[in-house]
Amino acid sequence: MPERRVLRMGDPDLRRVSEPVERFADPSLIELVGDLWDTMAARGGVGIAAPQIGVALRVVVFGFDESERYPQAAPVPRTVLINPEIEPLDSEMVDGWEGCLSVPGLRGIVPRHRRIRYRGFDAQGRPFERQVEDFHARVVQHECDHLDGVLYPQRMRDLATLGFEEEIDFTRCPGEVAPEV
Ligand code: NI
Repeated sequence: MPERRVLRMGDPDLRRVSEPVERFADPSLIELVGDLWDTMAARGGVGIAAPQIGVALRVVVFGFDESERYPQAAPVPRTVLINPEIEPLDSEMVDGWEGCLSVPGLRGIVPRHRRIRYRGFDAQGRPFERQVEDFHARVVQHECDHLDGVLYPQRMRDLATLGFEEEIDFTRCPGEVAPEV
Protein backbone atom coordinates (compact mmCIF):
# COMPACT_ATOMS: atom_id res chain seq x y z
CA MET A 1 0.00 0.00 0.00
CA PRO A 2 1.65 3.16 -1.16
CA GLU A 3 2.50 6.33 0.59
CA ARG A 4 0.25 9.08 -0.72
CA ARG A 5 0.90 12.73 -1.35
CA VAL A 6 -0.04 14.91 1.63
CA LEU A 7 -1.98 18.07 0.78
CA ARG A 8 -0.63 21.23 2.31
CA MET A 9 -2.36 24.26 3.78
CA GLY A 10 -3.71 26.39 0.96
CA ASP A 11 -5.02 23.42 -0.99
CA PRO A 12 -8.79 23.99 -1.16
CA ASP A 13 -9.45 20.27 -0.69
CA LEU A 14 -8.28 20.61 2.94
CA ARG A 15 -11.15 23.00 3.58
CA ARG A 16 -13.93 20.65 2.50
CA VAL A 17 -16.39 19.06 4.91
CA SER A 18 -15.93 15.31 4.44
CA GLU A 19 -18.73 12.77 3.95
CA PRO A 20 -19.56 9.94 6.38
CA VAL A 21 -18.51 6.42 5.43
CA GLU A 22 -21.54 4.33 4.50
CA ARG A 23 -19.96 1.02 3.48
CA PHE A 24 -17.73 -0.61 6.07
CA ALA A 25 -15.36 -3.54 5.48
CA ASP A 26 -15.29 -2.48 1.85
CA PRO A 27 -12.02 -3.15 -0.04
CA SER A 28 -11.67 0.52 -0.95
CA LEU A 29 -12.06 1.52 2.69
CA ILE A 30 -9.47 -1.07 3.81
CA GLU A 31 -7.10 0.23 1.15
CA LEU A 32 -7.65 3.83 2.27
CA VAL A 33 -6.87 2.91 5.88
CA GLY A 34 -3.68 1.13 4.77
CA ASP A 35 -2.59 4.14 2.75
CA LEU A 36 -3.22 6.41 5.73
CA TRP A 37 -1.04 4.27 8.01
CA ASP A 38 1.72 4.08 5.41
CA THR A 39 1.66 7.80 4.69
CA MET A 40 1.66 8.66 8.40
CA ALA A 41 4.61 6.37 9.04
CA ALA A 42 6.57 7.67 6.06
CA ARG A 43 6.16 11.23 7.31
CA GLY A 44 6.89 10.42 10.94
CA GLY A 45 3.49 11.60 12.13
CA VAL A 46 1.28 10.16 14.85
CA GLY A 47 -2.03 10.82 13.16
CA ILE A 48 -3.51 11.59 9.77
CA ALA A 49 -6.96 12.23 8.35
CA ALA A 50 -8.29 11.09 4.96
CA PRO A 51 -8.74 14.67 3.64
CA GLN A 52 -4.99 15.15 4.04
CA ILE A 53 -4.46 12.65 1.22
CA GLY A 54 -7.30 14.11 -0.81
CA VAL A 55 -10.09 11.73 0.21
CA ALA A 56 -13.18 13.52 1.53
CA LEU A 57 -14.35 10.78 3.90
CA ARG A 58 -14.69 10.89 7.69
CA VAL A 59 -11.77 8.55 8.41
CA VAL A 60 -8.78 9.21 10.65
CA VAL A 61 -5.98 7.03 12.02
CA PHE A 62 -3.65 7.85 14.90
CA GLY A 63 -1.53 6.39 17.65
CA PHE A 64 1.87 4.90 18.26
CA ASP A 65 3.45 2.06 20.19
CA GLU A 66 4.74 2.72 23.67
CA SER A 67 8.22 1.65 22.68
CA GLU A 68 8.35 4.20 19.88
CA ARG A 69 9.60 7.79 19.92
CA TYR A 70 7.95 10.64 21.73
CA PRO A 71 8.89 9.66 25.27
CA GLN A 72 7.41 12.96 26.44
CA ALA A 73 3.94 12.04 25.20
CA ALA A 74 1.70 9.51 26.94
CA PRO A 75 1.11 6.50 24.69
CA VAL A 76 -1.90 6.57 22.39
CA PRO A 77 -3.19 3.22 21.08
CA ARG A 78 -3.16 2.70 17.33
CA THR A 79 -6.70 3.48 16.28
CA VAL A 80 -8.83 3.63 13.14
CA LEU A 81 -11.68 6.04 13.83
CA ILE A 82 -14.51 6.45 11.32
CA ASN A 83 -17.53 8.79 11.45
CA PRO A 84 -16.34 10.15 14.80
CA GLU A 85 -18.31 12.16 17.31
CA ILE A 86 -16.60 14.13 20.08
CA GLU A 87 -18.15 15.30 23.31
CA PRO A 88 -16.18 17.44 25.81
CA LEU A 89 -16.50 16.05 29.34
CA ASP A 90 -16.16 19.44 31.02
CA SER A 91 -15.23 23.00 30.19
CA GLU A 92 -11.50 22.78 30.90
CA MET A 93 -9.26 23.84 28.03
CA VAL A 94 -5.49 23.34 27.92
CA ASP A 95 -2.86 24.93 25.72
CA GLY A 96 -0.41 22.70 23.91
CA TRP A 97 1.91 22.66 20.94
CA GLU A 98 0.59 21.21 17.71
CA GLY A 99 2.06 20.45 14.35
CA CYS A 100 0.40 19.08 11.24
CA LEU A 101 1.63 17.07 8.25
CA SER A 102 -0.31 19.55 6.11
CA VAL A 103 1.52 22.49 7.70
CA PRO A 104 5.02 20.99 7.63
CA GLY A 105 7.80 22.38 9.80
CA LEU A 106 5.60 24.71 11.84
CA ARG A 107 4.34 24.51 15.41
CA GLY A 108 1.84 26.61 17.28
CA ILE A 109 0.06 26.67 20.63
CA VAL A 110 -3.57 25.55 20.39
CA PRO A 111 -6.22 25.39 23.13
CA ARG A 112 -8.14 22.09 23.24
CA HIS A 113 -10.59 20.40 25.56
CA ARG A 114 -8.59 18.49 28.15
CA ARG A 115 -11.09 15.62 28.56
CA ILE A 116 -13.38 14.23 25.90
CA ARG A 117 -15.50 11.22 25.09
CA TYR A 118 -15.36 10.08 21.51
CA ARG A 119 -17.21 7.42 19.63
CA GLY A 120 -17.11 6.06 16.14
CA PHE A 121 -16.51 2.87 14.17
CA ASP A 122 -13.54 0.80 13.10
CA ALA A 123 -13.01 -0.25 9.48
CA GLN A 124 -15.23 -3.31 9.99
CA GLY A 125 -18.08 -1.11 11.20
CA ARG A 126 -17.77 -2.11 14.85
CA PRO A 127 -18.74 0.78 17.16
CA PHE A 128 -16.52 1.84 20.04
CA GLU A 129 -16.29 4.62 22.57
CA ARG A 130 -13.50 6.00 24.78
CA GLN A 131 -12.98 8.62 27.44
CA VAL A 132 -9.53 10.17 27.09
CA GLU A 133 -7.53 13.19 28.17
CA ASP A 134 -4.45 15.25 27.46
CA PHE A 135 -2.39 14.26 24.40
CA HIS A 136 -4.79 11.53 23.27
CA ALA A 137 -7.69 14.00 23.45
CA ARG A 138 -5.65 16.63 21.61
CA VAL A 139 -4.80 14.28 18.73
CA VAL A 140 -8.44 13.25 18.30
CA GLN A 141 -9.64 16.86 18.28
CA HIS A 142 -6.95 17.83 15.77
CA GLU A 143 -7.73 14.92 13.43
CA CYS A 144 -11.48 15.38 13.60
CA ASP A 145 -11.08 19.06 12.74
CA HIS A 146 -9.58 17.92 9.42
CA LEU A 147 -12.92 16.23 8.64
CA ASP A 148 -14.62 19.61 8.89
CA GLY A 149 -12.00 21.43 6.85
CA VAL A 150 -10.32 23.08 9.86
CA LEU A 151 -6.53 23.34 10.33
CA TYR A 152 -4.95 24.04 13.71
CA PRO A 153 -3.88 27.64 12.96
CA GLN A 154 -7.61 28.45 12.80
CA ARG A 155 -7.89 27.29 16.42
CA MET A 156 -4.97 29.35 17.75
CA ARG A 157 -5.64 32.23 20.11
CA ASP A 158 -2.25 33.88 19.61
CA LEU A 159 -0.66 33.60 16.17
CA ALA A 160 2.55 35.02 17.66
CA THR A 161 3.30 31.48 18.89
CA LEU A 162 3.21 30.09 15.32
CA GLY A 163 6.73 29.41 14.12
CA PHE A 164 9.16 27.05 12.50
CA GLU A 165 10.03 24.16 14.79
CA GLU A 166 13.77 24.77 14.48
CA GLU A 167 13.43 28.38 15.55
CA ILE A 168 11.17 27.94 18.58
CA ASP A 169 12.64 27.92 22.05
CA PHE A 170 10.29 25.33 23.50
CA THR A 171 11.77 25.68 26.99
CA ARG A 172 10.31 29.18 27.18
CA CYS A 173 6.77 28.14 26.30
CA PRO A 174 4.28 25.91 28.10
CA GLY A 175 3.61 22.35 27.05
CA GLU A 176 5.53 19.73 25.21
CA VAL A 177 6.72 19.46 21.63
CA ALA A 178 4.16 17.31 19.89
CA PRO A 179 4.80 15.35 16.70
CA GLU A 180 2.92 16.31 13.55
CA VAL A 181 -0.58 14.95 13.13
NI1 NI B 1 -3.10 17.72 10.94
